[in-house]
Amino acid sequence: MPMDAACPIATSDDLICQIATLAPHGTPITPAMAEQLQAATQALMVLATADGKLEQSPMTLAMERTVDLHREAAEKRLRGQRVLVTGGAGCVGSHLIPLLFGLGAMEISIADLAVETGRTGMDSPGEGSPTGRLANYQVDIRDAAALDAVFAQVRPHVVFHLASIREPGRAEAVVREAIETNVFGTRNVISACLRHGVEDAIYSSTGKCFAYVSDHVYTGSKKLAEAQWVAAARRSNSTRFRCTRFTHVMENGVVTQDILDGIAKGLVGLHGPDRYFNIQNVRQAAHLLVNALALADQTPADGFWAAVDLGWPVNTLELALYLIQRSGKPVALHFLGVPKGYDEVFFRGQFCWSGETVYHPLVNALEAPGGFGDHSGTMVGARVQPFSEDALAVELDLLKKALDDRTLDVVAVKAALNQAVCGLARTIFAAADLPCLIDVLWWGAAPAWAGTSTAEARRFEVVIHLLTDTVIAKLRQASGPMSMATRQKLEEVMQTLSLIPSLAAQSRSLEDLLEGSGTTTSMKAAVG
Ligand SMILES: NC(=O)c1ccc[n+]([C@@H]2O[C@H](COP(=O)([O-])OP(=O)(O)OC[C@H]3O[C@@H](n4cnc5c(N)ncnc54)[C@H](O)[C@@H]3O)[C@@H](O)[C@H]2O)c1
Repeated sequence: MPMDAACPIATSDDLICQIATLAPHGTPITPAMAEQLQAATQALMVLATADGKLEQSPMTLAMERTVDLHREAAEKRLRGQRVLVTGGAGCVGSHLIPLLFGLGAMEISIADLAVETGRTGMDSPGEGSPTGRLANYQVDIRDAAALDAVFAQVRPHVVFHLASIREPGRAEAVVREAIETNVFGTRNVISACLRHGVEDAIYSSTGKCFAYVSDHVYTGSKKLAEAQWVAAARRSNSTRFRCTRFTHVMENGVVTQDILDGIAKGLVGLHGPDRYFNIQNVRQAAHLLVNALALADQTPADGFWAAVDLGWPVNTLELALYLIQRSGKPVALHFLGVPKGYDEVFFRGQFCWSGETVYHPLVNALEAPGGFGDHSGTMVGARVQPFSEDALAVELDLLKKALDDRTLDVVAVKAALNQAVCGLARTIFAAADLPCLIDVLWWGAAPAWAGTSTAEARRFEVVIHLLTDTVIAKLRQASGPMSMATRQKLEEVMQTLSLIPSLAAQSRSLEDLLEGSGTTTSMKAAVG
């Protein structure tokens, strides 16, 4: 469909629709198409400029955000200490290490696949003045013996664990490696910390762990890593294991780089027009890690820290238009569709809608009630919800068996990961309060939110399944009548269950329970 010059009142929606129609997902872009896409892109830029949307980079505000450093406490903890940073050659590590030197660390060792052995000395700019010694160890955290040897040589007082297959798209492409690194590499780091008497160990988890379940390799593997870290924290009397959750670190973002690469070629491919992502800067990430160390004594063992200020999510289309405009080049935009690794569905019950907790995009509804903060007000903390360590161990054993079975294909290995992630969610739900679980289920699964068609409702099939099973089991154990409000919520949930064929049994069980239970309007009813 060519641009209609006689139709000057095209809206942004019209132009987006035009781009999508001109180049459906997966279509090779011919020179003629590129010309039309370029015209539509230009017209979109004109509209965005008129709306004042391209005056500054959508990233500008994110650059200025901060997490205040607990400098004094951090200096006390780091002065004269030996520090080991796994994954220290990466983006966050490169910013963290100069900061640690500036806070008085005596010796910092990087344990990373990517470093060259024997390279020493400071070569990355940062906030601190380098006074200590830097050593590099080229080691794979999946290799427990090699990692152990590094720990034996370095004898660290403090460990920061950053090594990870970090990019969601890559994790989908190298499934075994991602699980081996993120899940079992983390297990190796935990064991080495315990074996070598490390005093504090800080982990860089991800905000994606707010999801109760995920069939994405990066999220799933990081969830299992975070759970192991927290389990070690609860158990250990010797090492303080503490945790942070970051969101997309803009300095290491693939999104901006992909757009810039596209601009260089004259053709930018975006996943879609309505894609948003939360961002923070790398300084916030490094400060969070240091603060988690500085406040280790005051933080609950299962607590994690995140930046309070993450601003509004950034729209990738707006970012692309800004960068294209700034380049001054003729560039065509098109939409590629959302690949695996980036297509997580948003379950509304992920967040707390009671109005009783403060919303934060990296803290889920079960975690939110236990939230806390630091005195600067720039960090928010919450606690990973209780779970059975035995259940986690069983899931991890099964996953390890699948990983080690070289006859299994990648689909089977991913299925084993999903199984383990669901097992973790099951034990977290089992430990949660029934009224809270009913709310989470209702917030996410009532037809008003989950949709009124089978296709819509099925997007959340797995999490609804797990939640409903737990709610039913807990309702069977509950005594006393049910409040009217609870009954209404469950009746709404049943409408969604009835749309999902695989949940027919749950639908029947819930119906039986509702039929068999009395109702009260009392606030003190057994449930809700
Ligand atoms: N960057 C982000 O947007 C972001 C967001 C949330 C959480 N995180 C977490 O923060 C941490 C650091 O992120 P980053 O941006 O610095 O990532 P990065 O990819 O820049 O660095 C990761 C480092 O880990 C190393 N590594 C990977 N596999 C390894 C292995 N098997 N053994 C040893 N080293 C290995 C890599 O060589 C790399 O230097 C990661 O754990 C990541 O999951 C990052």
